[in-house]
Amino acid sequence: MSVRYPKLVVALDVDSLDAALGLVDRLQALDVVFKVGYEALFGYGDELRRRLERAGAASFIDAKLHDIPRTVGAAVRALVRPGVEIISIHASGGNDMMVAAVEASAERAAELDIPPPKIFAVTILTSIAPEELLELGLHGGPGENVMRLAALARDARCDGVVLSPHEVRDLKAFFGDHFLALCPGIRPTGAAHGDQKRVATPRSAVEAGADYVVVGRPIVEAPDPLAAAESILDEIRSASVR
Ligand code: C5P
Repeated sequence: MSVRYPKLVVALDVDSLDAALGLVDRLQALDVVFKVGYEALFGYGDELRRRLERAGAASFIDAKLHDIPRTVGAAVRALVRPGVEIISIHASGGNDMMVAAVEASAERAAELDIPPPKIFAVTILTSIAPEELLELGLHGGPGENVMRLAALARDARCDGVVLSPHEVRDLKAFFGDHFLALCPGIRPTGAAHGDQKRVATPRSAVEAGADYVVVGRPIVEAPDPLAAAESILDEIRSASVR
């Protein structure tokens, strides 16, 4: 059986199209997925999405959609295009909203004759500290809340969830390997945490069973982003996959 390492997702959280394209140019040969988040989407997203498609690059549109089902379905339709591997929504939008997203992805992809982007539901943001959950009206620890939202996402036929590496083991034990785990909050040993509260190293995320690991600042703010990405890939490939 061949070993399946998680894919590295590089968050293009930079303030200009040129900076984003520079990173795509430098990192594309590493076979990574490029994450287009709020900063890129709202700043220069249309052009970046066109350029990623033209470059044949894989992308994750981290739109974190959360609205009424019809609006979210329509937004997903507008985001589906060749090369888009993942689109994110918020699990807290509820069952009907998630179903609308999953159906819109499948329908639009069938019209375009391309593989449907996977729909991933965000559970609890990795920047939320455990003590903040209660302020949000959420009882229990991060793990319980993640599992409750993951169950909703699985029932709505989402492909997977976005969660902290700390919760991946429980997710896989409960829902099985086919329900995918995408983990931000990844920090190589010694890297600054920034606003992330529940972080883990690339190695521990892989060993817990993550399918995608998302890294932003430790790569895009590194003096040499290519060397930083290569060293994270080395760490991923030297970890023992579950
Ligand atoms: O720079 P850093 O590695 O912290 O970037 C993490 C990326 O993952 C950011 O683009 C952020 O929006 C995203 N993300 C996250 N937590 C989630 C979902 C997405 O940090 N729960």
